[in-house]
Amino acid sequence: MSARISTLAWQKNAVHLLDQKVLPAEVRTLICTRYEEVLAAIKDLTVRGAPAIGVAAAMGIALGALALPADSSEEFQKGFDALCDQFAAARPTARNLFWAIERMKGCFAENFRPAESVGSIAGETAKVRQALVVEAQRMAEEDVAINRRIGQQGQILIRDGARILTHCNAGALATAGYGTALGVIRAARDAGKQIQVFADETRPVLQGARLTAWELQQENIPVTLITDNMAGFLMKQGRIDCVLVGADRIAANGDTANKIGTYSLAVLASAHQIPFYIAAPLSTIDRQLSSGAEIPIEERPDEEVLAIQGVRIAPVGVAVYNPAFDVTPGCYISAIITEAGIAQFPYESFLEKLFSEKS
Ligand code: MRU
Repeated sequence: MSARISTLAWQKNAVHLLDQKVLPAEVRTLICTRYEEVLAAIKDLTVRGAPAIGVAAAMGIALGALALPADSSEEFQKGFDALCDQFAAARPTARNLFWAIERMKGCFAENFRPAESVGSIAGETAKVRQALVVEAQRMAEEDVAINRRIGQQGQILIRDGARILTHCNAGALATAGYGTALGVIRAARDAGKQIQVFADETRPVLQGARLTAWELQQENIPVTLITDNMAGFLMKQGRIDCVLVGADRIAANGDTANKIGTYSLAVLASAHQIPFYIAAPLSTIDRQLSSGAEIPIEERPDEEVLAIQGVRIAPVGVAVYNPAFDVTPGCYISAIITEAGIAQFPYESFLEKLFSEKS
């Protein structure tokens, strides 16, 4: 099923990324043999979606570590830290990016014993480099398993015949495989339920039109594409049973940053008394942030708004504002579906409980 979509993979000391910039017109894989290529791919959305960004960064760091000079322990350590810093600056909102970097740092610290003598440095660094490669691959495997658990947890909320509105792409393409919001949809379908998906096109970069529509078509899950401004009308017509989206970062109180436009959908869903669900792994939850006001929101280049797929649509010189994400207050969210269980408002205590049950 979703195994057919290979979003990212480590193969023979190279990172293979399905190029999401050119989908669905072309299905092309970018093969990165240098960490700088992975870094650029994260920045330009060749690979995107919070969990996929995290795993890609881990693989990029592993790739960079393979080539780090190591004439001394200090040089190796410094090079590794600089590598992590570069990835941390790639995209500010996706929590999984920072979570993945912390995990790679933990792996480095666990395996690196600064060598006393120059003679033993090569052996020491070889061991660390290998451990980082293994850790990045493990993270990819774990991500798929976590998404399957999210799917199992979440599909209980989806009734047979449900008509689900989704925004952006929180599918196999946004993760190492299976997806979060689309993982719930996959699990519901696999449980024998008839599902109809409405996909918002998701301006400015059209992740819904280009990626979600393509991904669901690959699996014959019925999908109808709508423009972003149609959602309210469909809700009014009684054609939407629930809204189901992913998340880029969730604060301790449940406030959730996700693709721009998500907040508007949550308010609309509330006005129409339609359940609004977030599906995300625990690694997307930032327990350090007490509310969504503290979540850094990425602003992206003007060109994304000024043009559609490279074709300019606005007059030269017009001012542009292009926040990539917005924050939906927890009070608008009916449930947050994680691999450890389902949390409901008020989120602080629910989410803490899920974390404690997991550990
Ligand atoms: O800018 P993008 O395409 O990386 O934004 C992606 C989203 O907003 C997704 O909904 C989110 O990362 C969850 S992906 C499982």
